Amino acid sequence: MISKEELEQILEKINVSAPAPADDTLRQYYFIKKSRSYVKELEEKLGRKPTCCVTTFGCQMNARDSEKLCGILEEAGYEITDSEEADFVIYNTCTVRDNANQRVYGRLGFLNSMKKKNPDKKIALCGCMMQENSVIEKIKKSYRFVDLIFGTHNIFKFPELLCAMFENDRMVIDIWQDTDKIVEDLPVERKYFYKSGINIMFGCNNFCSYCIVPYVRGRERSRNPRDIIREIENLVADGVVEIMLLGQNVNSYGKNLEEPMSFAQLLQEVEKIEGLKRIRFMTSHPKDLSDDLIEVMKNSKKICRHLHLPLQAGSSRILKQMNRRYTKEQYLELAEKIKREIPDISLTTDIIVGFPGETMEDIEETIDVIRRVKFDNAFTFIYSKRTGTPAAAMENQVPEEVVKEGFDRVLKTVQDTAREQVSRLQGQVLEALVEEQNEQDASLMTGRLSNNTIVHFPGDVSLIGKLVPVRLEECHGFYYTGSIANEN
Ligand code: 5AD
Ligand code: SF4
Repeated sequence: MISKEELEQILEKINVSAPAPADDTLRQYYFIKKSRSYVKELEEKLGRKPTCCVTTFGCQMNARDSEKLCGILEEAGYEITDSEEADFVIYNTCTVRDNANQRVYGRLGFLNSMKKKNPDKKIALCGCMMQENSVIEKIKKSYRFVDLIFGTHNIFKFPELLCAMFENDRMVIDIWQDTDKIVEDLPVERKYFYKSGINIMFGCNNFCSYCIVPYVRGRERSRNPRDIIREIENLVADGVVEIMLLGQNVNSYGKNLEEPMSFAQLLQEVEKIEGLKRIRFMTSHPKDLSDDLIEVMKNSKKICRHLHLPLQAGSSRILKQMNRRYTKEQYLELAEKIKREIPDISLTTDIIVGFPGETMEDIEETIDVIRRVKFDNAFTFIYSKRTGTPAAAMENQVPEEVVKEGFDRVLKTVQDTAREQVSRLQGQVLEALVEEQNEQDASLMTGRLSNNTIVHFPGDVSLIGKLVPVRLEECHGFYYTGSIANEN
């Protein structure tokens, strides 16, 4: 991460009439400076500052990538807005499940109608969906009005691509198949001043048989721990109190570094950062979750009492087909160990219903795990066939009625067990980080407990970003209502 002042000093020295430098970071600084003249030209034409809107689909990794795009757009001279009426709209896409893809196609049609009214409007697409050849072919054929397409591996090149977009009338497409690059020190515009995600690794090597992520995000690459620590220190100096370490599989952090380091060791280093109040991380794979990590969490004052531990399925037979590399019993044992060592922890999970060959009996096994583990929340997904994954080629795809019945039963079990689990905190006073004003009722603020449970309570916007003690008065299933507790 680089501050605005530092960046400005560097940009001042860059000569955009000279050829672009070869060094990855410097080269992008060069294009940031160059893009300013294009945006300025547009500003003069429009008679106002051009606006830009980045719409994020999918996970926290994408949300962080969007903050990087916004950082660059702001440096280029755009004003960031939430409205897709903007002069430049970017869709940062997700392809984990097909419904996310369908939403993008649907909304693109709507963007095209706006573009017809505003000929200066530009449209860009990036993110996981763009790493699929079939998607690119479809866009080239049926969505000719898109101006720029890039993928997940070359997002760091966005300033350069932005310039290319201004210099070309035709669609600019730049997709890389993979990369080993991690480009540091580009600007980032955070959505929240008090919390931030930090990438600690990119990609995934697990190849769960249903999952497209390893194909669109590439192989595992860990960031250097010094870069991570420096970034967090800068964020804390800038007012951040809570961070979330991001990776598809954080438990295998550091294995491929020159000086290997475990995720548990990284957490211990992050814990030392003064002024940082809360540490979260996402996502853990059960097969790689070490005893060391449990020990570090147990002894930590800053690591939040929350672990997201995707189960995916409760049947050992299905888990094997999914290539998850743990059994039902191993998962139960791990969950039990974590709860024994850290009694105030909340466990949440992801579940897929309708994987090829899954029967009602298999789904009963999933329900059995939910009842036994007692998750505080579980995200339940209907299996989505992703082209190119091993599961897509499996013959025994499950009929829709079976999936639907199984899904409803899993969802009902999750709702019942989660309510019971979440309500265990009723009456307690716990610290909440105040995040925002409640959307429905402006007299209420929304805070997040260490264990990730949400609580709504009377308060005002001056509390945003502060940690306050809140009495949990009434449990409403997955969240609470309460009030600020007097400390004395
Ligand atoms: N179909 C349905 N859900 C999926 N997930 C990943 N791939 C698929 C798929 N093909 C879910 C998993 C993962 C979460 C991010 O998305 O549960 O943990
Ligand atoms: Fe996909 Fe499995 Fe990697 Fe998660 S761990 S991103 S589910 S392949």
